[in-house]
Amino acid sequence: MRRPFIGGNWKMNTDHASARSLAHAIAEGTGADWAADVVVFPPFPYLLPVAEAIAGSPVALGAQDLSGEVNGARTGEVSAEMLRDVGASWVIVGHSERRHTIGESEALIADKLSMALGSGLRAVLCVGETRAERDAGKAHDIIAAQLRSALAAIDAAAMDDVVIAYEPVWAIGTGITAQPADAGEAHREIRSALAARYDARLASGVRVVYGGSLVPATAKSIFAVDGVDGGLVGGASLKAHDFLALCTAATVGVAAS
Ligand code: PGA
Repeated sequence: MRRPFIGGNWKMNTDHASARSLAHAIAEGTGADWAADVVVFPPFPYLLPVAEAIAGSPVALGAQDLSGEVNGARTGEVSAEMLRDVGASWVIVGHSERRHTIGESEALIADKLSMALGSGLRAVLCVGETRAERDAGKAHDIIAAQLRSALAAIDAAAMDDVVIAYEPVWAIGTGITAQPADAGEAHREIRSALAARYDARLASGVRVVYGGSLVPATAKSIFAVDGVDGGLVGGASLKAHDFLALCTAATVGVAAS
């Protein structure tokens, strides 16, 4: 049985005080016997205060990015070891805002994923097509190519530490959630790409979550889709009440699917 996963990607939002209070509220809302992995991804400067705020709770800490290099002359970059040093156990790799807005290449994303897993971090690997790619009927090819490239150097044993997030670019921050049927199809495509790269047993064990304008009102139908193991949440993760509602929906909805 795959354990539900729900991540809150705070992106470039919050400040010191609001990051701490958001983290406190989320930690307080999750009980000790919480049946899902709940991870918050604050901006780099707030990793330490958030680590303090969630200490002793089931909430885990993640970073939104990492360097593909170990250390040294990389101005502005943050290494995997630094992330572990401040208490992060997860990192997001290949988010569409980094692929498309910042221009990260497939090769860089593959390096970052290898670095994360080789350094003992767990990774959320994001894949997804743009609106133009979907309209051109290329969504599945794009997703398969992104997975092939990112996972080329990742062996099967390391896949225990990977969650795949299907995040259609046109659904991120737009208020347009994918239709459950489209999400389900993309999730099936992701598992068949994993089966082609590894094997069917591994493909059925890896968690695949959905991201893109998830809010409590839309989450129930998405989490009920067979093969959807939770979500990566942006905007709604900045409100403790909404994020906790999504965590509950993931726990209930995914467990029942
Ligand atoms: P959104 O972001 O929920 O604000 O659409 C999701 C994400 O980028 O992970």
